[in-house]
Amino acid sequence: MCPERNCPNCPGEENRAESPSKRRLLNVLLGGSVLAWLGSVLYPMAAFLLPPPSPAMRERSVMVGTVNEFANNSGTLFRLGTRPGILVRTDRGEFRAFIAICTHLDCTVQFKEDESVIWCACHNGKFNLQGMNISGPPPRPLDPLEVSVRGDEVHVSLPA
Ligand code: FES
Repeated sequence: MCPERNCPNCPGEENRAESPSKRRLLNVLLGGSVLAWLGSVLYPMAAFLLPPPSPAMRERSVMVGTVNEFANNSGTLFRLGTRPGILVRTDRGEFRAFIAICTHLDCTVQFKEDESVIWCACHNGKFNLQGMNISGPPPRPLDPLEVSVRGDEVHVSLPA
């Protein structure tokens, strides 16, 4: 092989130098194949790590039951989307509903019939039937939900 570049005595030597258009084509093909490879690796990983939202996550309203299923001075846990809710029927027959997650450390609350309060068993936190924190460590009231009675069905929904 001749050590000189573009040697006039060596036939075809000038053809060995790549033309700019060939180099550009090779760069485009190489770059495209690298991008395609990255896409084929990263897309399945992203799809696995970020699952599509389930219909339950978008749920804003739920029918909890019929009016006569709930006795006065009682509480019923239900699910609204991915969170628990509590439907309380007061001793006067009124319905109230809250997100059933304690505002202290996120335990699920329950209705305590003997005291007519919403109670958190984790640290003995208590809420009145308006959802206000009345004793124990919870720092703020429960998040309220809206209750509507349609016919004999009791529906609970997130506030607008
Ligand atoms: S988590 Fe409810 S009182 Fe602590």
